[in-house]
Amino acid sequence: MADTLQEKVARRRTFAIISHPDAGKTTLTEKLLLFGGAIQLAGEVKAKKNRQSSRSDWMKIEKERGISVVTSVMTFEYEDHVFNLLDTPGHEDFADDTYRTLTAVDSAIMVIDAAKGIEPRTLKLFEVCRLRDIPIITFVNKMDREARDNFEILDEIEEKLALDTAPVTWPIGQGKSFCGTYHLAESAVRHGDAEKERTRVNGPQADAAAGMLPENEQEAFVEGVELAAEACRPFDMQAFREGHLTPVFFGSALKNYGVRDLIHALMDYAPAPRAQEAENRHVEATEKGMSAFVFKIQANMDPNHRDRIAFVRVCSGTLSRGMKAKLVRTGKAMPLSAPQFFFASQRHLAEEAYAGDVVGIPNHGTLRIGDTLTDGEDIVFRGVPNFAPEILRRVSLKDAMKAKKLKEALAQMAEEGVVQLFTPEDGSPAIVGVVGALQIDVLAERLNQEYSLPVGFEPARFAVARWISAPTQQELRDFMDAHRGEMSRDLDGDPVYMAPNGFSLNYEAERWPAISFATVKDYQ
Ligand code: G4P
Repeated sequence: MADTLQEKVARRRTFAIISHPDAGKTTLTEKLLLFGGAIQLAGEVKAKKNRQSSRSDWMKIEKERGISVVTSVMTFEYEDHVFNLLDTPGHEDFADDTYRTLTAVDSAIMVIDAAKGIEPRTLKLFEVCRLRDIPIITFVNKMDREARDNFEILDEIEEKLALDTAPVTWPIGQGKSFCGTYHLAESAVRHGDAEKERTRVNGPQADAAAGMLPENEQEAFVEGVELAAEACRPFDMQAFREGHLTPVFFGSALKNYGVRDLIHALMDYAPAPRAQEAENRHVEATEKGMSAFVFKIQANMDPNHRDRIAFVRVCSGTLSRGMKAKLVRTGKAMPLSAPQFFFASQRHLAEEAYAGDVVGIPNHGTLRIGDTLTDGEDIVFRGVPNFAPEILRRVSLKDAMKAKKLKEALAQMAEEGVVQLFTPEDGSPAIVGVVGALQIDVLAERLNQEYSLPVGFEPARFAVARWISAPTQQELRDFMDAHRGEMSRDLDGDPVYMAPNGFSLNYEAERWPAISFATVKDYQ
């Protein structure tokens, strides 16, 4: 294809779906993939939930608990656009993985259950998106079931998320009589996703709109459309792109309504790969020079090849197979001999990838989360975050002879982002920290399977960890000297203060006003 780099970038949409469990993320993912013609892949998304997928078989824990631990990327094409959908773990214990994945997207679809409105996990994920100014398209799902009043849902989004709403479509009926969507600005209808084009109608009273509903529901529908057109905000591209306004679509992923509306919204409204903020400059997606950052490391995606894949998001230029990239952290060259694209369960060699694309790079521990790869320039991308762990544990080894092996294995796991590793300054055994308890189970399982290291976990003396900094080195040193027994270093050697509880932390924070105690740290 003779597309210019600009055209290639303009055709791409890299996004994630955020939702509370059960709102319909898996169903919607499946339906989106169907539009890309990836029918058998779509089946596999569901199979994963039914615990039959070979893709997620790599870890027993996933099967036993029926949860998806792996963040994967699914690529599909529709009407000349390339969509990269970054899947995120459904379970909140893997929240930090989800947050890191959100650093690699340009927009997100927020799926809401029409009967339940904004649920806690949606709220939390939304806040992460807001921190990063990620524009959000809202999909109100399950309109084929008993749903809350449409205006009530819009009000709730506005109130709970402090986000303006602009309904683009309006549901024709709800529950049993739900039969399509009405485009408010175009005055056009679509009766399900099988209809490629919307049909223009002469207002909501038309036969193809209100006329589709039982008589006793027609008036309410017409009034709803009139009120929405009059009282709701019109869609405003700038406010959406800046993250202040969300266009709202209604539908039913299960019954194939509204999904085509949504995919068109991604094409028409969602931004193409955005410029990325590096430490010393803005990097435009259409720049010639290649740049990419690692947002996830995944070991053992394929149990037959004990491999380790670093997922990178390309930020600019062309990443091509065989090129020698520069790993900026070490300054060393890294040949990209087998970069891969992922299509749910399948993968194949990536000859070329552009801004917005997500590529897997097999490696044996060279790449870490947060690493930047370029074709020469010393660019460092900021903002792949590390979150203060909520659970701290001491690892106890059953065979003391294997202490060195354990140290190496823990460092590996920390580099992959499975756990965080803290080395106490007083020489006591290492402490691992996680955001959710299931991560500890994953660690134990992997240490056992991959390193033959059966381990136990003991409560650490501490329950709270914070990265510390101060305006001057002297102030930092004074604090550290006064708290020798509570100081650790993280994987990068940065100082971490640990406290037995929140109360002690607050007490120290009051006594040492010059010290900042951070709950989030960017990877370096
Ligand atoms: P999740 O990934 O967000 O957790 O949700 P998922 O898609 O698995 O959907 C959760 C449940 O809601 C599933 O039912 C699914 O079939 C149902 N669902 C999703 N979208 C719609 C919709 O638009 N309308 C209706 N009526 N139901 C919907 P389940 O019984 O829990 O699972 P399954 O046995 O159907 O797989």
